[in-house]
Amino acid sequence: MYNILDDAFEKRYAVPQFNMNGLIWLESILKTAEKCNAPVIVGTTDKIVDQLGGFELLARAFDIMKEDLEITVPTVLHLDHGQTVERCKKAVDAGYGSIMYDGSKLPIKENVKNTREVVEYAHQHGVTVEAEVGSVGGTEDGIYSDLKYADQNECIQLVKKGGIDSLAPALGSVHGKYKGEPNLGFEEMASLRQSIDTPFVLHGASGISDSDLQKAISHGHAKINYNTELNIAWSDALRKVLIENQDLYAPMEILKPSIQSLNEVIEEVIIRTGAYHKALNNS
Ligand code: 13P
Repeated sequence: MYNILDDAFEKRYAVPQFNMNGLIWLESILKTAEKCNAPVIVGTTDKIVDQLGGFELLARAFDIMKEDLEITVPTVLHLDHGQTVERCKKAVDAGYGSIMYDGSKLPIKENVKNTREVVEYAHQHGVTVEAEVGSVGGTEDGIYSDLKYADQNECIQLVKKGGIDSLAPALGSVHGKYKGEPNLGFEEMASLRQSIDTPFVLHGASGISDSDLQKAISHGHAKINYNTELNIAWSDALRKVLIENQDLYAPMEILKPSIQSLNEVIEEVIIRTGAYHKALNNS
């Protein structure tokens, strides 16, 4: 992850994180990244890791699929919104390359303390750590949060005392579908960038306009997270094929259009974030 994020941060593009909701997502993400010669991050939200088979299975599936598909572009398996220090350590032990510890609902002192513990463990294993301040609004995998802007002093504390590799400062973005227009805090972003020289991560990117996305990247967002946009494309295609073909029951036939839709959205996002043709071929 170090090489991937550093290059994006320095050259001001962003590496997309695509969350997976099953092996179909993983295959689409890897194949499309290879086709676009782009670095990508595959996210698994902690809340659904166990439903997807657990850390060990996911880490192995990631490695095996990369090998089978002969993937050469840089790819990282990342734990999204790790809920406890213990679960973050478990993901490191299983072979994840990157971890997000999400202590954003805790008082800042506790968030820093727990993040530091995850960082010390992860760094011993060459694994990078992301952490969050404030609160990304909306719902993801059944977890609802009110939107709360990140406090600048708390961000500085988490970066300096926590020793993290990337920071997710909540500045107006929302998980899931936006109600109304997204309203990102660009002034806060610019001011935060003056005091922090660590790559930022943008959560809740589905539904954000191209121009806002480019502004966020110009302020040093080097990792941008997508889940909803993929899931809408997948479920729309699935719904259509089932409604239009009432007699169809062969799973692979049913899934073909939704896989195609996933591939198309992933390619569009890779272009949108500027990651197209940015593979350093050091996966
Ligand atoms: P979206 O719900 O906007 O796709 O955001 C995904 C995300 O931020 C994952 O952490």
